[in-house]
Amino acid sequence: MKNKRLAFIFGGLLALVILAVGSQLIRPSSEKHQTDKVKVGVLQFVTHEALDDIYRGIKAGLKESGYTEGSNLQIDFLNSEADQSKVQTMSQTLVNNKNQVLIGIATPAAQGLASATKDIPIVMGAVTDPVGAKLVRDLTAPDGNITGVSDKTPIADQLELMATLTPGVKTVGVLYSSSEDNSKSQVEEFKTLAQAKGYDVIEYAVASSNDITSMTHVMIEKVDAIFLPLDNTVASAFTTVVQAAKEAKTPIYTSVDTMVAEGGLASVFINQYELGVATGKMAAKLLQGEQVAQLPVEVFDQGTPIINETVATELGITIPEQLKKEAQLIK
Ligand code: TRP
Repeated sequence: MKNKRLAFIFGGLLALVILAVGSQLIRPSSEKHQTDKVKVGVLQFVTHEALDDIYRGIKAGLKESGYTEGSNLQIDFLNSEADQSKVQTMSQTLVNNKNQVLIGIATPAAQGLASATKDIPIVMGAVTDPVGAKLVRDLTAPDGNITGVSDKTPIADQLELMATLTPGVKTVGVLYSSSEDNSKSQVEEFKTLAQAKGYDVIEYAVASSNDITSMTHVMIEKVDAIFLPLDNTVASAFTTVVQAAKEAKTPIYTSVDTMVAEGGLASVFINQYELGVATGKMAAKLLQGEQVAQLPVEVFDQGTPIINETVATELGITIPEQLKKEAQLIK
């Protein structure tokens, strides 16, 4: 009886000791695992296909460089849905969360992060005009905490495509958001180059996405074609532009393939996913200890022509044979 009782007590004690030692063994290793994860904060300005592609590319670029989400990488992802006050608060949140590197997808997001920290390195994910947006002073030699990837729409090529595909066009309307610094420089460049080619250009600036439908209706009364720069506000409300233009049979030239797939006529575009991959790889270099000053802004300015054949048919446009060979054709 006594022996049994002793054995019981010993057994219980032994179990306690095993549990205690076991938990000691497990806990330090799980804590270690957590501190092994690098932390990257990502702020996406708004939801639209192109920016979503870029974010997918960012994760792939990080992975190619050895950082996999969930294993040795923790991504703190926020989307401000084009709300400027959210851009501010979310930027601050990403800074407060002690992320080691920050990525801003689209100009307003990168600008928000830039005003939230002068210390944590920031990677611009697809910022069209980093100098005009006051994010860097010199693309080749960043002197602050910001570098990244720039997507510079090949506007001269866009105009050439417009001339070949729709030779009858004389007046072009440019629709963009007055609050996006990325659009300003593209509109300026488009205007200069288009006027030099003999086009009349009319600007239609909107204050927010709420004005896009009405502005498009005003515009289609006056123009033969629409040109859309890389503008996030317009991109996120693009279906309303397509609807209005369709009724009036006005061709839409966009600056990205995703918007040709959504009903634009044509574009000379830069691959969005690849922009993301380059952004992710640059973030990885910073995580590995490289300095911003050693990493010049990477500029993508070479485009591929793309034409939506269904839209061309609807508009009664015959695609020249030569162009059919050069361009990517989608339906
Ligand atoms: N370049 C844009 C900026 O500077 C962001 C962007 C990337 C974009 N791809 C796009 C905008 C496609 C509209 C459509 O903010």
